[in-house]
Amino acid sequence: MKQGFEKYIPFVPLKMERRAWPDRQIVKAPVWCSVDLRDGNQALIDPMNVEEKLEFFHMLVDIGVKEIEVGFPSASETEYEFLRALIEGGHIPDDVTIQVLVQARPHLIERTFQAIDGAKHVIFHFYNSTSTLQRKVVFKTDMAGVTKIAVDAAKLIYELSQPAIEAGMDLRYEYSPESFMGTEMDNAVDICAAVLDALHATAEKKVILNLPTTVENCLPNYFADEIEYFIDKLPGRERAIISLHPHNDRGTGVATAELGLLAGAERIEATLFGNGERTGNVDMVTLALNMYTQGVDPELDFSEINKIRELYERVTKMEVGPRQPYVGELVFTAFSGSHQDAINKGASYMKESDSPYWEIPYLPIDPADVGRQYEPIVRINSQSGKGGASFVMRMNFGYDLPKAMQPEFGKIVQAETERQGTELKPERIFELFKTEYIDATSPYQLIRHAFSERTEKDGHSRVTFSGTIRNGENTVDVSGEGNGPIDAFFNAVHGQKMDRFTFVDYKEHAVSVGSDSQAVAYVQLRDENGKNVFGVGLSHNINLAPLRAILSAVNRAVGEKN
Ligand code: KIV
Ligand code: ZN
Repeated sequence: MKQGFEKYIPFVPLKMERRAWPDRQIVKAPVWCSVDLRDGNQALIDPMNVEEKLEFFHMLVDIGVKEIEVGFPSASETEYEFLRALIEGGHIPDDVTIQVLVQARPHLIERTFQAIDGAKHVIFHFYNSTSTLQRKVVFKTDMAGVTKIAVDAAKLIYELSQPAIEAGMDLRYEYSPESFMGTEMDNAVDICAAVLDALHATAEKKVILNLPTTVENCLPNYFADEIEYFIDKLPGRERAIISLHPHNDRGTGVATAELGLLAGAERIEATLFGNGERTGNVDMVTLALNMYTQGVDPELDFSEINKIRELYERVTKMEVGPRQPYVGELVFTAFSGSHQDAINKGASYMKESDSPYWEIPYLPIDPADVGRQYEPIVRINSQSGKGGASFVMRMNFGYDLPKAMQPEFGKIVQAETERQGTELKPERIFELFKTEYIDATSPYQLIRHAFSERTEKDGHSRVTFSGTIRNGENTVDVSGEGNGPIDAFFNAVHGQKMDRFTFVDYKEHAVSVGSDSQAVAYVQLRDENGKNVFGVGLSHNINLAPLRAILSAVNRAVGEKN
């Protein structure tokens, strides 16, 4: 890039004496309007056919979008046909308003009125371009020229709409000063005010003023200043619904929309996953779920995000990237060890504290809220640490490893990832666990055992263990007594070259595999050098699982020594 930047003209921000928007918060959902079937569709390599558009339309209705721009019926036969199919096929629910787009040109306006015949609720959306650049290089006219185009169109639309309104159609108007953000703000205010007048807008019959970043050309805060300024200066502001139509050329479409809402906008035109011309329109999913994760009801239903994505990808033939907020394949996955640790701790905290809030680090939303609870949150590769493998064991297989044991198992898993050089699937992690702990059954193995229990006069119970233990080729009968089964067993085997171990800790819980429930016990022993050694035992019998765990620990320690 050889100094090419010098040819670009920087955006000149408004001079604001004061601004209120930085101190505000988004506390309620805007009116949502989907422009997927128009702006989104017109940007596709293969635009959707009528059947695909219909399928998409029904999905938008199911999501809860109440205003849907269904096309540009004067621009193509397919668009016209689709609109007729929607109306004549009775596909539009009574609480949904369809929106049609048209340029501010008389013959196209007339054709658009034909296209909406028979619809119940319609937003008639017309536009012309107003920016300094477009006036100079495209229309070669001044502000008076573009204002005349807009006002003439508004008058014609008002006139042509009267018969339909009298016949019972609920018809509203929308005007977009296209390339708004590149228009001098006082000019934008004047043209919109003239359009409001021509459309006889009142507080009861509001007109939608849709302010697009047709090509996003400035920082979101500068755009918010424009919106605040525009709203402040607009005569009869109560006659208008302020709508935004952000594009994403600088990659800040979502921020632009959010700051624009702070600045007073009430409505957003957006597309699912940000489809649209060039870098796309603002992404409705991200915007809505950003609100959701701030405790604001977005009034849209994305609880089955994967299904929405699947339909979207099929009919648009576009792909949703793996890092796309809330929906990308990898957005709920942590590979990094420290992140996995924190998620692991967060999940335990939620369980233990019974917190009514979502308090898990690195996961801004509960995957279950968007139907993604069955996907792996933690995936294990060489970047992963001790907590990750334990998280997989808990989430995928129901094994809740004691904290003290987690680093040891984490190291075993990490060594394997480094050996293999690839990600380890949960099944492989379980295999490692099984081989390392559960299958550690030699040289010591319990062949037979029996417990008896008696209660002393003082109310304390004493347990006696007797059994047979194999040590390599040899078998030996042992017996011992203690205040519980583990104590009794430990005392029984103490003479069997196991004297060097002391018992430190123990944990047991049930694991279910299908309808089969087993007990898993984790035991921590310490050898004569103070080294911790862990063992795991599995059994249908809750008294037997810890005995197996003790022998597993001893076997592992003996194996290490050999
Ligand atoms: O991006 C844009 O300016 C538009 C208008 C027609 C609203 O799509
Ligand atoms: Zn657009």
